[in-house]
Amino acid sequence: MADIHNDFSKEKLVLEKGFFDVDIDISLDLFKEIEKLKKEKNAIILAHYYQEPDIQDVADYIGDSLGLSQKAQSTNADIIVFAGVHFMAETAKILNPSKKVLLPDLNAGCSLSDSAPPELFKKFKDKYPDHLVITYINCSAGMKALSDIICTSSNAQKIVESLPKDQPIIFAPDKNLGAYINKKTGRNMLLWNGACMVHEIFSLEKITKLKIRHPKAKFIAHPECEEPVLALADYIGSTTGLLKYTIDDSSNEFIVATETGILHQMQKSSPQKTFIPAPPNNSCACNDCPYMKLNTLEKLYLCLKYESPEITMDEELRLAAKKPMDRMLQISAQYGL
Ligand code: 13P
Ligand code: SF4
Repeated sequence: MADIHNDFSKEKLVLEKGFFDVDIDISLDLFKEIEKLKKEKNAIILAHYYQEPDIQDVADYIGDSLGLSQKAQSTNADIIVFAGVHFMAETAKILNPSKKVLLPDLNAGCSLSDSAPPELFKKFKDKYPDHLVITYINCSAGMKALSDIICTSSNAQKIVESLPKDQPIIFAPDKNLGAYINKKTGRNMLLWNGACMVHEIFSLEKITKLKIRHPKAKFIAHPECEEPVLALADYIGSTTGLLKYTIDDSSNEFIVATETGILHQMQKSSPQKTFIPAPPNNSCACNDCPYMKLNTLEKLYLCLKYESPEITMDEELRLAAKKPMDRMLQISAQYGL
């Protein structure tokens, strides 16, 4: 097998743009190379469930946003390669400043995070000085720094319920998750008008038809979906929650309304069961997150090899963003989440 480890002519770096212009030797076994580099560098690969199957298969830990944050906080590795999107890698850096945090493609953003620019949000928040700000983890460090507590889809309800009933709250940036938590807790949180492009694409009509064609299938959905879609669901939860549900539930068929990457672990955990991705409202593969899918095994290999692109952050911003993260992790630990 060809070894191109020191052959820079084949791997042209375009680091200032945050990505690699590559021509990797196709005979290279990237799975083996990545394993070797992980050991050499004492690196850990953390991957979100929306990553492509190959990346999930080389990861040391796969999880939802809460699990990934907890893992990023507790790891002893020197390098964290975050196979996810920018806000996730940034969160790992906020929690673990002494580690080198790498993201295979710096352009892996998030439509939900983009829907809440900190400058605009600050103006909005200043109008409600008596409100506490609970912010979904899918946001920038700048947004985190403006927040009182961060939450994820798996602890949002508990975090809201941990506050006194009469405490006015602003919930940002996901209006769908916010509306769902309002319904579950009977609160009336003020919602920022943000959403995820992937979870708003599902077609109610096509899901209804699919349910008729598969009467025994359970319909499960992520709380970033819109209310009419959630109203049809047998179970609503974070990616980890959805995966667990498919393992524990006795049904053999599931219609899954979230990003399609999660189906890989569902199928691996329950090979005898059938998983059907909920259809989008047009014929494209719009329930694939275009940002999550920017990461590839090749970029992961190069990023680990050259230790770039790296996430860096202003220390003042990091400390301000860490405070609401610490509060979230503290409340989660209290509830055993
Ligand atoms: P969870 O994995 O925390 O449910 O989040 C889903 C998501 O949209 C991540 O971008
Ligand atoms: Fe952001 Fe939605 Fe992609 Fe998650 S699935 S990273 S919320 S755009």
